[in-house]
Amino acid sequence: MKKSILCAALAMTVLCGCTAQKAEKEEDMYNIDYMVLVNKLNPLPQDWEANLKTEHFTNTVGNDVEVEINAYREYLDLKKELEDEGIYVDLDSARRSVEAQQEIMDNFTKEYGAEYAAKIVAQPGYSEHHTGLALDLYLIVDGKDIIYNEDLVTYPEIWEKIHEKLAAHGFILRYLPKKEHITGYAYEPWHIRYIQDREKAAEIMEKGITLEGYLGAVRETEPAIDLKTSGLYSREELEEMAVLIKCKAASFTGCEMQSLTYAVDEGVSEEELKQINEAGEDIRYVKAVKFLMDFYASEENSGVFNPGQDYSGYEWLLGCDEEGNWEIVSWGL
Ligand code: DAL
Ligand code: ZN
Repeated sequence: MKKSILCAALAMTVLCGCTAQKAEKEEDMYNIDYMVLVNKLNPLPQDWEANLKTEHFTNTVGNDVEVEINAYREYLDLKKELEDEGIYVDLDSARRSVEAQQEIMDNFTKEYGAEYAAKIVAQPGYSEHHTGLALDLYLIVDGKDIIYNEDLVTYPEIWEKIHEKLAAHGFILRYLPKKEHITGYAYEPWHIRYIQDREKAAEIMEKGITLEGYLGAVRETEPAIDLKTSGLYSREELEEMAVLIKCKAASFTGCEMQSLTYAVDEGVSEEELKQINEAGEDIRYVKAVKFLMDFYASEENSGVFNPGQDYSGYEWLLGCDEEGNWEIVSWGL
């Protein structure tokens, strides 16, 4: 799993020389909605970029990073505080234009396929990074820049210490483990979000909830995940599959996942696998699995489901190609 150092390749002109003093003055004349919700269902507000004030700086790997002015000032304080404890961080990416996000999405889709890309990269126009309030941290350990996802996740103790300090600076952790059905994204320990209000940030962090849940855009739930016992797949593999489904299900407007169950190893027969391959286009799946979901479709669902109805046994089929990549093949009743 590679991180979007790709966006670093999109580096623009370096406009360094920003000062905290300058940001403080501008703060008085400047007002944006620091609680803005941008996710798979809510695009960047149209007038956002016209109001946004940002700073640029150059990170330790030489790339230009652009951040909203007040988020930047707090980030610098957070960074300093962490340094006093021997933890060194920098920013891989913060504000991104819609074009930059498109480039990241295209590169990830080409390299890992559309489903995997959708699990970790937002559609252009729907990325919180457009706001300038979302910051991707990377670590500097023993003088070495740790940039890639697969390396960053190997430092859980460092992330824990960083996360403990976020709220005091008006930041929250945005993509939490086990909340993929709400946020639509897999766990990202590096992606922090500035919301400015420290009390609200403390409440969100202490409760371990999502911004969506805090704002009442969705009910903060944790579906029952039953991975059964498989003779074919490890628990980690099944968990990864469940995350893929949860990320996709987060796009079902007004629907609340109640449970997700692995439909045992015999869930997809050889005959069904043959049918999936015959129906599919160029990809050949060598394995397939089935999951069953129960969910509630609220009155506010997009109209696809009956308002106010509980659905049971909604089927998700996942296929694995010859290279070992799993993706969602179909979903429905
Ligand atoms: N990685 C986050 C979800 C983004 O692309 O905005
Ligand atoms: Zn991010």
